[in-house]
Formats: sequence, structure tokens, C-alpha cells
Amino acid sequence: MSTSPVGVIGSGTMGGSIAHQVAMSGYDVKLLDVSQPALSKAVERIKTWTEASVARGKTSEQDAKNILSRISATTDFGQLKDCKFTIEAVFEDLKIKEDVFSQIDAILPQDAILATNTSSMSITVLAEYTKRPAKVVGMHFFNPPQIMKLVEVVRGYKTGDDTVAETMEFARSLGKEPIEVKRDTPGFIVNRILIPQMLEAIRVVEEGIATPEDVDKAIRLGLNAPMGPFELQDYTGVDIGLNVVDHFYDEFRNDRWAAPLLLRDLVRAGRLGRKVGAGWYDYPPEQK
Ligand SMILES: NC(=O)c1ccc[n+]([C@@H]2O[C@H](COP(=O)([O-])OP(=O)(O)OC[C@H]3O[C@@H](n4cnc5c(N)ncnc54)[C@H](O)[C@@H]3O)[C@@H](O)[C@H]2O)c1
Repeated sequence: MSTSPVGVIGSGTMGGSIAHQVAMSGYDVKLLDVSQPALSKAVERIKTWTEASVARGKTSEQDAKNILSRISATTDFGQLKDCKFTIEAVFEDLKIKEDVFSQIDAILPQDAILATNTSSMSITVLAEYTKRPAKVVGMHFFNPPQIMKLVEVVRGYKTGDDTVAETMEFARSLGKEPIEVKRDTPGFIVNRILIPQMLEAIRVVEEGIATPEDVDKAIRLGLNAPMGPFELQDYTGVDIGLNVVDHFYDEFRNDRWAAPLLLRDLVRAGRLGRKVGAGWYDYPPEQK
């Protein structure tokens, strides 16, 4: 598949790491962000990760050099004009995604695929911000993308069969296991199943049944899960978790998806700059 160079838009937690994975798989990458500091931070992170891999004997010095030389960081959208495959990973904000989609649509080659790493937004809606809805697809990586094997390939209402097939093939070429999500629904597969577990864990704490630490311990030891639901939320960000839950509530219009007050309180505390320590393990304060 002659997809090189690959465009990656957004160089934060996901975009920077996706760019790294794509470069490790032998592709040239154009990594774009509107923020120069964000780009510099992403490149530094990739360097640190690569050096650690050399130190562990997993990557040769030459391979490390090659990986880093394949990534070019830019703030200029025009640099993506020859990218046949681009993955968008900017903030989870519809207005920002709309701007990015309409801007990049005018620059990419006409037959290029535009994939989005969105966790919760509708692929069908995002596709309508372009003149190529058949070429727009969801490509949902998991954090950290260099390690997590799964990629959910999400079909929007107008996504073409060839686009899905090429995206599945591209994901495999990155060493990932793609799964096709046949309908564009909130949360796709994994988050649709994970979020109710997270909500129920918070309710267990709200009802005074157990502390966040003990819920995590129970899930780790009882289900052999690598992380408990609270550790996972602290890792991915409680504010991101709340945004996703609120979005599900709007979409499904069902109280089953209503955010527990405790979650809202924790996020608000963080936003107000109140010290909440390491996150859930300092909550709820009255149980400490
Ligand atoms: N963090 C996760 O665990 C995770 C997992 C799977 C999917 N996602 C999805 O990936 C996407 C990115 O999430 P993240 O956690 O990496 O976010 P992040 O906040 O770490 O990074 C977002 C980046 O986008 C950049 N950006 C903002 N506006 C831009 C624009 N107009 N053009 C170019 N760049 C712009 C920002 O400068 C920032 O560097 C979101 O859609 C999110 O839902 C996140």
C-alpha cells in the first residue's frame, strides 16, 4: 500500500504516539499541530521513548535514527498535500474538528483517506464537514497506541467499503488488530462496554460500599484485570471521562448514562485548582 507519507493532525497524547507508531512501521510521517510547543513536546517524547528502546536493546541505533528521521513536525497544513492517509487526533471538540476537517479537505489529494481517532463523536457528522464523506472513517486507537493492539475501524453512514478495507489493511501494517465497527454509534464497542462499568464503580463508592482503592483491588484480583476502573480513569483523565459520559447521556437520552455527582465534583475540584492529590484515591474526602 503506497500510503507514505502519512499525515497525523494533533500531536498530543494520542497524535504524538500514533505518529511514533506509524514511523516505527516504516512510513514517513507529517505530524501537524497548531501549537509549536505541543509539537516540540511530542518530538521530545518520541526521542525519549526511542532512546529507552535502544537502551533496552529492543531497537538498534540505526533503526532509532531512521524512525526519528521519518517524522517531520509542522504547523503548516499545506505540508500534508501529498498524504494519501491522514489520521486526525485533535481536541475532542466538535467545532475544532469541524475547522480541521474543512481545512484539510481542501488540501489532501482527492482520493486520500481522512481517518479520525475520535473516542465519542459521530463519524457520519465529521464526514459531512468534507466533500469526501466516502473517504472518512473512524480509526480509534487505544492509549498508548505503541502498545495497545486494538484499533476500532468505524464505518460512518457514507464510508465506502474500499475505505474500510484500506484502513483495516493500514492498521495491520502498523502491527495492530483492527476490528470493524459496522454502525456509527456512541462509544463504538469498547467504550460502550467500559463506561457502564466505570459509572457503576463510582456508584459503589457513592453508596459507601467500598473505597476507590478497594474497588480497584476487587476488579484486579477478582477479574484478573490489569487495572481497576479508578486507576484507569486517573490514567486517561477524569475530565475526559466526564465529557464522554455527558456525550453518551445526550445521545442515548437515558438516565443509565447520567454522570454521578461524585464524578462531576471531582472534575470541578480539579478545574477550580483544589488539590485532589493523585485523583480518585483521595476521593471522596469524607471517606478518608
Ligand atoms: N487520550 C486518550 O486516552 C484517547 C484515547 C483514544 C482516543 N482519543 C481521542 O484522540 C483525540 C486526541 O486526544 P488526546 O488525548 O491526544 O488530546 P490532547 O489534548 O493530548 O492533544 C490534542 C492536540 O490537538 C492539538 N490541536 C488543537 N486544535 C488543533 C487544530 N485546529 N489543528 C491541529 N492541532 C490542534 C492541540 O494543540 C493538542 O496538541 C481526541 O479525539 C480523543 O477523543 C484519546
